[in-house]
Amino acid sequence: MQTKIAPSILSADFSEMGKAIKMAEAAGADLIHCDVMDGSFVEPITFGGQMVKNIRPLTKLPLDCHLMIEHPKTQIKFFAEAGADIITVHYKACRKISETYLKETLELIKSFGVKCGAVVNPDVPVENIFGVFPLCDMVLLMSVYPGYGGQKFIPETLEKVKRARAYAVKCGRPEMDIEIDGGVTEENAPLIRAAGANVLVAGSAVFRSDNPAKTIEALKG
Ligand code: DX5
Ligand code: ZN
Repeated sequence: MQTKIAPSILSADFSEMGKAIKMAEAAGADLIHCDVMDGSFVEPITFGGQMVKNIRPLTKLPLDCHLMIEHPKTQIKFFAEAGADIITVHYKACRKISETYLKETLELIKSFGVKCGAVVNPDVPVENIFGVFPLCDMVLLMSVYPGYGGQKFIPETLEKVKRARAYAVKCGRPEMDIEIDGGVTEENAPLIRAAGANVLVAGSAVFRSDNPAKTIEALKG
């Protein structure tokens, strides 16, 4: 499977966002990862649908919107209308509300014609979202606790990736997108790819690089 790289604009200079996105696209990025934080599900606040709307015309790349927010269902409309191509929501944020909230949110995303995905934190077994695999275009396994860029990769995530890929194969979806987010580097990317992930989020690795094109090429392997 071809590896796709999704630079996270969380690590970009927010005062130069347009420039950062164009740089990432020119350097060979496959998606733009937009980290939406609400100051409640995670401590920081980043940005909302308005940012997605404003960056939409600046790139041809799909906008991969990672919603680290409480009550995600209430926000789907805004991100879909802003031009998100993929919206992912956290198992934990949904589970707090009800057992069926995750499934309902994924269905709501799809009703806008947008791709959807479920996200698990490092302390949540990937098996907890096996039930929604048939609905998901992508699953996102956090390899750090969400909230901040520049953290260290949690190596136990590799086993989860293997189990997720094996289950996707079992479901007849061998090509399902499995995304890893947090602490991805040129050093650990080969292990992540070998475990079966095909979408690698890279914040600091790309935006702190002296040569982003070379870094993206190395991450793809
Ligand atoms: C963490 C975010 C990540 C983060 C990744 O909460 O979801 O997308 O920006 O940044 P790095 O690659 O620096 O760990
Ligand atoms: Zn993210």
